[in-house]
Amino acid sequence: MTENISSLGTLQRLCKECRNCSLAMSRQSVVFGEGNPAAKIFLLGEAPGAQEDACGRPFVGRAGKVLDQLLSAAGLTRQDVFITGSVKCRPPKNRNPYRNELAACRPWLEKQLALIKPQVVVCLGLVAVQNILEPKAKLTEVRGRCFEGPGYRIYPTYHPAAVLRGTVKAELPAADLKAAARSFL
Ligand code: URA
Repeated sequence: MTENISSLGTLQRLCKECRNCSLAMSRQSVVFGEGNPAAKIFLLGEAPGAQEDACGRPFVGRAGKVLDQLLSAAGLTRQDVFITGSVKCRPPKNRNPYRNELAACRPWLEKQLALIKPQVVVCLGLVAVQNILEPKAKLTEVRGRCFEGPGYRIYPTYHPAAVLRGTVKAELPAADLKAAARSFL
């Protein structure tokens, strides 16, 4: 399906037409992701929410504001990184994506990684961690550590929404992002 695609623009055009799972029926937009096509840091989130679905861009709601602050604390901007989700379409009522939806969306993510070739993937939250690190991973056990992935290192951290909820202090994901950014300087 994605084997012969050699540019991110072509991948995005095809992804926008995706009907690999039933999230296609309820979405307003496919949130492909955005940022630097040659980014060394790839941020992997969960799934688009209502605002992202409405405008087709990742992390534009309140969690996105927190993400901008975390990036800034790590000396980064959105232009330095590429940001996307584990699924590109909004699950109804913002439920977590189902395993079959993650699997259906996986070829898009794999091809994004193959074309961008980041040095580091920062997983924002448990859905992303379980999607690319280990299906049974516990965030409290893996966060703050670094893992070898296929061609990139994986840094698990908290989703910015956890900072918004007050369950996690911003210092923790900020420190993880900083460590990820420093790891290839
Ligand atoms: N993943 C998220 O967690 N949020 C977004 O806005 C997009 C992808």
